[in-house]
Amino acid sequence: MIVAITGIILILFVVGHLLGNLQIFIGPDWINGYSQHLRDLGPLLWLIRIFLLVTVIIHIYVTIQLAIENRRARPEPYLDREYVKATFASRHMVMSGLIVLAFIIYHLAHFTVRVTDPRFALLNADPLGHYDVYSMMVYGFQNYLVSGFYVLGLFLLALHLSHGSSSFFQSLGLNDKKLTPRLAFGGRIFAWLMFIGYTSIPVAILLGLIKPAQQL
Ligand code: HEM
Repeated sequence: MIVAITGIILILFVVGHLLGNLQIFIGPDWINGYSQHLRDLGPLLWLIRIFLLVTVIIHIYVTIQLAIENRRARPEPYLDREYVKATFASRHMVMSGLIVLAFIIYHLAHFTVRVTDPRFALLNADPLGHYDVYSMMVYGFQNYLVSGFYVLGLFLLALHLSHGSSSFFQSLGLNDKKLTPRLAFGGRIFAWLMFIGYTSIPVAILLGLIKPAQQL
């Protein structure tokens, strides 16, 4: 139940963050203004950040406890194991989750604390006086290695969500012969839509479809 509820909160964040980021396709004024609005929330933004951080910590702590309990319940490994229903995604939730965590830590250092790329500090404010998040994202993703790492992180996030986004219904007691396979299918579609949405940003930048709003 705890994993399911914290998971739903994190899924809502992933959807909201994608919608915010996709504003890069509308133009610098949109995404820079959006980012400024978030910063203008001041102490409320910090409350949201702390809430998200606590949610992530609980989600990871409880899932790892569950994984340990599962292992303890069967100290002797199976001699031969054939999977009938368990998908690759469902069997590797801890691994994909931990790599997603590493991705998020890098991502925070990259775009929130901005310590990985010294050029970000050289960016001027946009004509409306907002920090130029638009150009920061373009310069950031013009690097193939950085974009490649994001695509890898987003792929593992999608794998994690493809199981997690539907299994929470089961954890909350919603289990039905007809409904469960449909939810599993819906969860997979949702996860890969998130993947396409997020990766469209580095891909569009690498293809030169989005250019920085200012030269460095
Ligand atoms: C292509 C993919 C992504 C892009 C372009 C992107 C972009 C950004 C940008 C520009 C910021 C800084 C916002 C600002 O300071 O105004 C940010 C912050 C953040 N991103 Fe992402 N993001 C991506 C994927 C993700 C994913 C997949 C997650 C989590 C699963 C995530 C979690 C966060 C978090 C937690 C913050 C910190 C928010 C805060 O300031 O408190 N991001 N992202």
